[in-house]
Amino acid sequence: MSELNLILLGAPGAGKGTQAALLTEDFGLPHIATGDILRAAREAGSELGLMAKQYMDKGDLVPDEVVVGVILERLADDDARDGFLLDGFPRTIEQAGALGRQLDSHDRRLTAVLALDAPDELVVKRISGRRICRKEGHVYHVDLDPPKHEGHCDIDGSELEQRDDDLEQTVRNRLEVYHTQTEPLMAYYEERGLLRRFDGTRSPTQVHERIRATLATLRLEEDL
Ligand code: AP5
Ligand code: MG
Repeated sequence: MSELNLILLGAPGAGKGTQAALLTEDFGLPHIATGDILRAAREAGSELGLMAKQYMDKGDLVPDEVVVGVILERLADDDARDGFLLDGFPRTIEQAGALGRQLDSHDRRLTAVLALDAPDELVVKRISGRRICRKEGHVYHVDLDPPKHEGHCDIDGSELEQRDDDLEQTVRNRLEVYHTQTEPLMAYYEERGLLRRFDGTRSPTQVHERIRATLATLRLEEDL
């Protein structure tokens, strides 16, 4: 089987990060999440981080040229040579074009774009209850996926916190930005025969099982 090059696509709160954690465990792929990279840059107080903060706090997209530069550099790292799982990138047609050109130039192909469908009201509810672990970014939900010990991560014990951009007003803007700028990518990847859609309203385990089944079928087709 050739390398597994995957994209997770979906609205804020559709479950990209949750599925990414499960899939990276299954396949040992590097999880490359633009949001996580930008938040780490903010924490570090780097120039990139300070610039990104202005956009992220409002729920707007960080400019394409900045994000594209960061991701293309990351994809050139050793651990991403045999496969990757992108989460939150691409988010515009422009970003998708840049990624496609980069992969083509290295004779690499996308395996599939895994799209998670979830309605706006559901994702607003999910995001308002989301808690993230301070140390490694493990994701929980106060009602839907609570940690065993309130306020603490099951995996590393660190404190759980809320993301700065998870205020309802900001989430509404993130959703609007998603519908206008990112949703057109569904048609873009559909035309290229890469889109696989999943019902993101199901439980994390059910979504995960369906994604695994789809990937298994794709692998079988490739072997035939
Ligand atoms: P980013 O960090 O990518 O945020 P996002 O796309 O808004 O998505 P989220 O991380 O909020 O949601 P998710 O789909 O990962 O859901 P999760 O699994 O956590 O981006 C943040 C910002 O960075 C952007 O606004 C932008 O400013 C900037 N940025 C990033 N990428 C960029 C790019 N390419 N270009 C320009 N700017 C960029 O789940 C949410 C909650 O629901 C959790 O509590 C979870 O436990 C729960 N949950 C998940 N799945 C289920 C389920 N199936 N059932 C029940 N509960 C569930
Ligand atoms: Mg996420």
